[in-house]
Amino acid sequence: MILVTGATGTIGRALMNELRAARVPRRAMVRDVGKAKSLLGGDEDLVQGDFSDAASLAAAVDGVDAVFLVTAAGPALAEHDLAMVRAVQGTRVKKLVKLSSFGVDTPGLNALKSSEWHRPGEQAVMQSGLAWTVLRPGAFASNALGWAPQIRASAPIQVATGEGKHAVIDPRDIAAVAVRALTESAHDGKAYSLSGPEALSTPRQVAILGEVLGLPIAIEDVSPQVAADRLRAAGVPEAYAAAVFEGYTWWREGKVASRSDDVAHVLGREPRSFEAWARDHAAAFRSD
Ligand SMILES: NC(=O)c1ccc[n+]([C@@H]2O[C@H](COP(=O)([O-])OP(=O)(O)OC[C@H]3O[C@@H](n4cnc5c(N)ncnc54)[C@H](OP(=O)(O)O)[C@@H]3O)[C@@H](O)[C@H]2O)c1
Repeated sequence: MILVTGATGTIGRALMNELRAARVPRRAMVRDVGKAKSLLGGDEDLVQGDFSDAASLAAAVDGVDAVFLVTAAGPALAEHDLAMVRAVQGTRVKKLVKLSSFGVDTPGLNALKSSEWHRPGEQAVMQSGLAWTVLRPGAFASNALGWAPQIRASAPIQVATGEGKHAVIDPRDIAAVAVRALTESAHDGKAYSLSGPEALSTPRQVAILGEVLGLPIAIEDVSPQVAADRLRAAGVPEAYAAAVFEGYTWWREGKVASRSDDVAHVLGREPRSFEAWARDHAAAFRSD
């Protein structure tokens, strides 16, 4: 039995789909059972749980063999990771697979805020005494869904990363690697860097999406400062806006353009391209 946390989020939902298709016994830990039923379907095994409630974690891991650990970006991330590592001690859980972030152990990038948030949890997972695998993906291809309102309104997309490149990864590939890590001992004790097949600039991603949709999509180049200030004005917490500013700045400066072969190594096939992701999600950008 595998416990999927963050099961209503991007990677958790993709993982639930993969596990369902492979008929792997699974349980989803969710904060809101009603919301989860509508997102995941009423026939899934759902348990109410919150990382800030230790008793709920104890109930969620009861009878489970492996845990997929997703903790949401923000300053509470490390405490939430540590809470799950505490909750599995002395239980039947034998393996932890943690969703982390690229750059945690890369000189230079390890100073990024996202690396600081993830590092304590990575270390706790590695020192938990259980089998473990750490997944360090780059930015998700699905972040492009944030452009859908502008595309539907024929408004320009604000791009803060200039011509800086990044090998964005399809969430389905992260989920596919997670299934292997959760079910095969060959991945125990490994930390994988997960990227898409090719580093692309954001304007190139927008152009690919435009070709797939058959639409011209305009771009407005904005500075990372302007992008972060817009998030602040929209009510996004300061710690998150500051992390976005930092990430966009590094991206713009070409410091996050590296790619990895780990997806191909684990899955025996190349990662999906951004174009393939765009084709499969074209409906999300159409207004009719
Ligand atoms: N987006 C990227 O490009 C990117 C790149 C690299 C790494 N990452 C990492 O990916 C992780 C986020 O994964 P994601 O994008 O799949 O998640 P997501 O879509 O942001 O969803 C967050 C999930 O966490 C759940 N959650 C939030 N607070 C919780 C709490 N206190 N207790 C229990 N569950 C809680 C949410 O449940 P509700 O539905 O109840 O809110 C939701 O299921 C972060 O650690 C981030 O650093 C992201």
